Amino acid sequence: MKVLVTGGAGYIGSVTVESLLARGDDVAVLDNLATGHRAALFPGAAFHEADLLDTKRVTEILRGGGFDAVVHFAAFSLVGESVADPEKYMGNNVCGTLSLLAAMRAAGVGSIVFSSTAATYGEPAQIPITEDLPTRPTNPYGLTKLFMEQAMETYGAAYGLRSVCLRYFNAAGATARRGEHHRTETHLIPLVLQVAMGRRPHIGIFGTDYDTPDGTCVRDYIHVEDLAAAHLGALDHLGRGGDSLKCNLGNGDGYSVREVIEVCRRITGHAIPSVELPRRAGDPARLVASSQRARSVLGWNPQKADLPTIVTDAWKWHRANPDGYAD
Ligand SMILES: NC(=O)c1ccc[n+]([C@@H]2O[C@H](COP(=O)([O-])OP(=O)(O)OC[C@H]3O[C@@H](n4cnc5c(N)ncnc54)[C@H](O)[C@@H]3O)[C@@H](O)[C@H]2O)c1
Repeated sequence: MKVLVTGGAGYIGSVTVESLLARGDDVAVLDNLATGHRAALFPGAAFHEADLLDTKRVTEILRGGGFDAVVHFAAFSLVGESVADPEKYMGNNVCGTLSLLAAMRAAGVGSIVFSSTAATYGEPAQIPITEDLPTRPTNPYGLTKLFMEQAMETYGAAYGLRSVCLRYFNAAGATARRGEHHRTETHLIPLVLQVAMGRRPHIGIFGTDYDTPDGTCVRDYIHVEDLAAAHLGALDHLGRGGDSLKCNLGNGDGYSVREVIEVCRRITGHAIPSVELPRRAGDPARLVASSQRARSVLGWNPQKADLPTIVTDAWKWHRANPDGYAD
């Protein structure tokens, strides 16, 4: 299969490129390196340094490549930043994706796998979260992703576009070669590991009075390698002529912030001091996925579902790459 991966120089994109190459797919990456890293690219995948917003260039790349499908990771994804500067998120995530869809249509590429998010649900009506629950994002980031899911649905009805929207819960972990390096890091596991590496004095716990067993927020962590595997399954589904669908990707196990810190203490052997802080606005108490649909329709079967394995792999990568990617 010939696949164009947008955002392939980023965290989840680079690991998915690694998995696609490992199974022998023909892969090209399109990335403007806004938050990605040149050092995360693989020599086995052609690289187009381009911005999604440049519809003409993206159309040329797609026309010249004979692609069967696009896997679309490229987006901005900092929730707080999206609240402070929604225009930045509408401009890049919404306009960027519409530009990509226009280029795909012009080039005759009719299949896409899209990085969506648990943030589309907002405060969920029930746990575990199933795909049929109401979607009521509580921040502009989640709104951009929901809007793009809806755009793909309408383009499906009008133009025959087929899409798999994958709603990730909390991506974490690493492979031996690729790991998590966001220049602005907001994710719990890398932040805790930065404390273990002496890069931060302590980890902040936002809210200790939630209605959860230990009072801290509960989230569903998923190994980035298992996430990548779901993208391969989604491409196969589309390749078989499968219908458009939306799927959650999580393990169905929730871990509280305190539990994550405790697992990190055990694995790193570091005391990892923590500081209790007030709640952050818009943080739901519990976000845990039902991934039954991904399992039954995509044949998805996560191999590294337990948190200690996820943290161990992340820790190995951070210790081998204390400054992340060199660039
Ligand atoms: N990391 C998570 O836990 C998580 C959870 C839910 C959803 N997601 C989604 O998954 C995707 C990947 O997340 P990530 O953590 O790997 O992010 P990342 O920032 O590491 O990767 C995003 C990549 O997209 C590129 N990019 C952004 N805008 C672009 C544009 N206009 N043109 C070309 N390239 C552009 C960046 O340079 C970067 O390489 C994002 O869409 C994100 O919203 C991530």
